[in-house]
Amino acid sequence: MKIGIIGAGNMGGAIARGLAKSTKVSASDITVSNPSQPKLDALKQFNNAINVTISNAAAAKGADIIILAVKPWLVKSVLGGISFNAKSQLLISVAAGISFEEYVAMLDSPDSTIFRIIPNTAISEGESMNLIAAYNASEAQKTLVQGLFDEMGSSIFINEEQMAAGMALTSCGIAYVFKYIQAAMQAGIEMGIKPMDAQKMVAQSLKGAAAIILNNDTHPSVEIDKVTTPGGYTIRGVNELDHAGFTSAVIKAIKISRG
Ligand SMILES: NC(=O)c1ccc[n+]([C@@H]2O[C@H](COP(=O)([O-])OP(=O)(O)OC[C@H]3O[C@@H](n4cnc5c(N)ncnc54)[C@H](OP(=O)(O)O)[C@@H]3O)[C@@H](O)[C@H]2O)c1
Repeated sequence: MKIGIIGAGNMGGAIARGLAKSTKVSASDITVSNPSQPKLDALKQFNNAINVTISNAAAAKGADIIILAVKPWLVKSVLGGISFNAKSQLLISVAAGISFEEYVAMLDSPDSTIFRIIPNTAISEGESMNLIAAYNASEAQKTLVQGLFDEMGSSIFINEEQMAAGMALTSCGIAYVFKYIQAAMQAGIEMGIKPMDAQKMVAQSLKGAAAIILNNDTHPSVEIDKVTTPGGYTIRGVNELDHAGFTSAVIKAIKISRG
């Protein structure tokens, strides 16, 4: 299975690295295109078997799957510069905010099979939350694409209409998680903990909380109950968060970032 990746930035570069490390694709079957050389050189340094080129047309030619990882405003011109074969190729785009209807118009082919995928920046760690919406795809194609992206984290299929809300929770949401880490660190530092120690304490606690939720049939309320002794310190802190508007602020931030 040959894969052409157009754009070697944060997303395209991480996808190329993730796929090259995966069990499903061999690095020599991946070709990445990008206009500037340094990002291509970095990919070669990561894995010399990855093919690189400054020509998008060359990356797309002969690929079974074309992954578009350029900024949204470049999608139209990039698609115009390659010849996409709707009968033999799948298009996967990570560009935010472009609808299937717009892709079909740009490709001038309603028979195209298109996937819209929204990863988040944790893709660099193989821990991305990947949102996938499919257009004109068979179950086998959906399984194939989910399998590829599961290698870079975890994937979930959603309807195209849910993309903006999903993005607010995941690719914007990761910034709010960093904000929590930063805020908790500030508290730790004020109480005399060294910054890097505080960072580790908070980040590992967050990773642990995520693992509890993801690995068990549980719910945040159940887990909060386990650590809030009646009359104890933790419930005071939890209530203080709500008095200060924490829940409301998170809801507002996520809703406003849906756009
Ligand atoms: N970052 C996120 O959290 C996130 C999450 C979900 C989806 N996305 C989507 O992912 C896409 C890429 O975002 P990113 O963060 O990876 O951006 P990025 O780091 O700026 O990467 C974009 C890459 O595209 C290259 N490029 C520019 N013009 C090109 C052309 N004509 N042909 C081929 N490549 C070209 C750029 O090369 P040069 O820099 O060398 O010019 C750059 O390496 C965007 O559409 C964004 O909406 C991003």
